[in-house]
Amino acid sequence: MEKSGDHYAVITGASLGLGKAFAYELAQRKTNLILVSLPNQNLGELSHMLIENFNIDVHYFETDLSITDNVIQFSEWINENFDIDILINNAGLGGSKKYIEANVDYINSIIQVNIMATSILTRKLLPNLMKRDNSYILNVSSMAAFNPIGYKTVYPASKAFVHSFSRGLYQELKNTNVFVSVVNPGAIKTNPEVTQRIERQGFLGRLTLAKPEKIAKICINRLLKRDSVIMVNKFSWAMLAILPIWIKLPLLTNVVKREVQ
Ligand SMILES: NC(=O)c1ccc[n+]([C@@H]2O[C@H](COP(=O)([O-])OP(=O)(O)OC[C@H]3O[C@@H](n4cnc5c(N)ncnc54)[C@H](OP(=O)(O)O)[C@@H]3O)[C@@H](O)[C@H]2O)c1
Repeated sequence: MEKSGDHYAVITGASLGLGKAFAYELAQRKTNLILVSLPNQNLGELSHMLIENFNIDVHYFETDLSITDNVIQFSEWINENFDIDILINNAGLGGSKKYIEANVDYINSIIQVNIMATSILTRKLLPNLMKRDNSYILNVSSMAAFNPIGYKTVYPASKAFVHSFSRGLYQELKNTNVFVSVVNPGAIKTNPEVTQRIERQGFLGRLTLAKPEKIAKICINRLLKRDSVIMVNKFSWAMLAILPIWIKLPLLTNVVKREVQ
């Protein structure tokens, strides 16, 4: 493939939900895109539609990001063919389960996609991002990063990793051309399953529920304004910051318990 003269934004987990909303938001801003998600998720159709409607260049790559070799292969494909100036590590998995009922694949895939893919892809694409005058990395964490939650266990822990990793990298790269930001959204109406799950949690779950398009717009605006920690639900953030752990840990665990019963 011939190396393109223009620059691109990379979005992981772009076939659905927040990742797809990021793709639309950047397309509206005439940003060329590289999209990745699992195979057979209509990424080709989405890319075609974005090219037709927004007159931008879009490439896609279908792979399972829970496998380290795939993450490396994907990053090498990008580095060989494209110059990039935005990386959005959005792909992420979670869920609610009794830990005794969670199988090894379920636990491992959360760790691999949320932790391994985010950190390895960032490392492999960093030299490419450093070539531009101004580049941006946005890592999608969650409000769960600040609250351990029973029946979610591994997911909030993985998002705490994403938050901590992003803050450390921000500081390390502060005097370079690569700006690192992290977003910690509350619940997002990304798909019917997530929406129903959150609605089952009752008032507390519904409190932060927001549309992906709105979250994506806020994130891109704040990222480009160099906001290093993006808060999209200020009320819930303040509430969770005030509550001591001995109140919020059992409270949130009981909220999620309703989902698994
Ligand atoms: N939804 C919420 O309430 C919420 C709240 C806070 C934070 N977040 C975070 O926001 C991000 C997006 O969440 P979402 O709700 O939009 O999720 P989603 O609708 O489930 O979409 C996840 C995306 O990640 C991709 N993906 C999942 N596993 C993958 C794998 N092994 N390899 C490659 N791609 C994979 C999916 O691709 P396929 O279509 O191929 O499966 C999909 O495009 C995640 O990091 C999530 O943790 C979500």
